[in-house]
Amino acid sequence: MGDAGGRLPDIDAERANIREAASYIRSRLAGARADCEGAGAAGARAEGAGDGAAGAQAGGEDAAGARAGGAMASGDGARTCGDGAAGARIACDGAAGGRAEGAAGDIPDIAVVLGSGLGGFAGRLADAATIPYADIPRFARSTAPGHKGNLIVGKIAGGPRVICMQGRFHMYEGYAAPEATRHVRVLRELGVSRLILTNASGGLNPAWSAGDLMLIEDHINFTGQNPLTGPNFSEYGPRFPDMSFAYDPGLRETVRRAAGSLSIPLREGVYVGFLGPSFETPAEIRMFQALGASAVGMSTVPEAIVANHCGMKVCGISCVTNLAAGILAQPLTSEEVLESAAKAGPLFEALLEETLRLLR
Ligand code: HPA
Repeated sequence: MGDAGGRLPDIDAERANIREAASYIRSRLAGARADCEGAGAAGARAEGAGDGAAGAQAGGEDAAGARAGGAMASGDGARTCGDGAAGARIACDGAAGGRAEGAAGDIPDIAVVLGSGLGGFAGRLADAATIPYADIPRFARSTAPGHKGNLIVGKIAGGPRVICMQGRFHMYEGYAAPEATRHVRVLRELGVSRLILTNASGGLNPAWSAGDLMLIEDHINFTGQNPLTGPNFSEYGPRFPDMSFAYDPGLRETVRRAAGSLSIPLREGVYVGFLGPSFETPAEIRMFQALGASAVGMSTVPEAIVANHCGMKVCGISCVTNLAAGILAQPLTSEEVLESAAKAGPLFEALLEETLRLLR
């Protein structure tokens, strides 16, 4: 991607990147199970499992038309299982402290992206298998503070198995939009159909407080970029995807029910996506207030756009870690954001856990 010289981005290369990453994750999860069941193989790593697989996959664009529901996932399942093994032995993930319950076919259809300072939620997963992003071919690295950079699959007590991404990729880190959102299509390839995006944000309503939780009702893309720019990945979705229900009404109702059943106060509002990495100026904050937004942050919007494009149901929960610039007479720091996220952690985690239980 990112070709110079006026050429359009090479989406076949990006397709291969997506499939290679998905294939590796499948193999690693299947391998974790196999190795934990039968002792001897621990220690063997799936070094370079990807490179061969990418080449093998790049040619076959067989997913066209299989967009929504599980069709794409099951089609790919057959393909990636074959490629994914790539002749490599995959070790049980020592860091996971356990076995991955699911074989490749059991990869959960719900995924959660955990935002700044909110990664502790992954500690609530039982029977967890952890794959560091650094191991996943073609995955970017999380460089943002409070983003650990692990993909974890595990079970919610009394609820479903889920994929948790402990950290994300932001365009302010220097990633182009396709790279910053590649994980969303990778999750789609794995069969994920429901995506819960979480983030830390600055509150725009002076009556709100640090630590408030906000259900994202809709967003305003103020990043100046759209991750769907470039040739369309028609096997995932249409050239001009509808964004009328970008945050799925049914999932939003589930979060409300979860909050109600735990008596957790829940704000609702519009999230503005800002490129960053500088925080906003007070004048920009006044503009966002005038636009009717309730919170601002540097993530989520690109992922929500790509997820909608590929037919996923999306939900967003924002932890308002501070009041936005200029509302209080004090400067903002990323330390404050992480501290507030840590303080709000228990309520945020309880809300997310209950939501996932209801989504079972
Ligand atoms: N602005 C942008 N992003 C943020 C903020 C903010 O005030 N707080 C947490 N993430």
